[in-house]
Amino acid sequence: MSKERFVKRMLIRSLVGAALVGLCCWGCSSRDENTLKMVTEATFPPYEFLRGGEVVGVDVEICRAVAEKLGKQFAVENVDFDSVIPSVISEKADLAAAGITVTEDRKQSVDFSDVYAKTEIVLIYRKDKPVLTADDCKGKRIGVQSGNTAETIVLEQFQQEPERFRSAPEACAALKAGRCDAVLVDVEPAKNCVKGEDDLAIAPTPINLEEYAIAIRKGRPELLKAVNEVIAELKASGRIESWKDQYRAEADAMKE
Ligand code: ARG
Repeated sequence: MSKERFVKRMLIRSLVGAALVGLCCWGCSSRDENTLKMVTEATFPPYEFLRGGEVVGVDVEICRAVAEKLGKQFAVENVDFDSVIPSVISEKADLAAAGITVTEDRKQSVDFSDVYAKTEIVLIYRKDKPVLTADDCKGKRIGVQSGNTAETIVLEQFQQEPERFRSAPEACAALKAGRCDAVLVDVEPAKNCVKGEDDLAIAPTPINLEEYAIAIRKGRPELLKAVNEVIAELKASGRIESWKDQYRAEADAMKE
């Protein structure tokens, strides 16, 4: 082969190679190495809710602190709760943070960070028709956010089909309108749902006790380690508790 032909062939090969790399990067452009992306479902104060168009809350602060530690930009995407964990599995996002309860089932598909908060799962009921215990729920229409642990409780513990809603506030609106008999949800968003609603109340006995952690695609030990270090620092300094108070107050004020 002549020298010219060889050079020409090499040139074509490298051009084709560069084009292929370019195409691939274009194809996976949702993943930017310099940005840490969090995915959540923002109807869950004080952990995540919308302030205007912006997602804010405790989970956002924790993930932003991870981005800062890693020296990365930070981005948040708001999706349906059912899509939160799938988004980290498919690498559309790095961190799933949405008041996600650690469960054995979910541990099959993602890694969880250390626990950063505890919660109770509670019943919200109409004062004119109290539904106060698991027994009271039998045969009643129990509203849940689709994909929540509350949905599993209704299916497995109460042994009945729940009324599924896109968000807890939507379930509460249905409760007020008489389209369900109670709503089963995590206690912090429950408090926000009943805020200023004189006809609604929270049952005193929790139905379950659960713990929140951040979900990460399996096989990312360095990211997991960074998240755990940040959680340990934030817990030790009391930041998580103070964010909880701050964002609870902000979300409650929005309902006044
Ligand atoms: N802790 C419950 C669960 O993991 C509910 C979480 C709902 N979170 C949200 N951001 N809507 O299933």
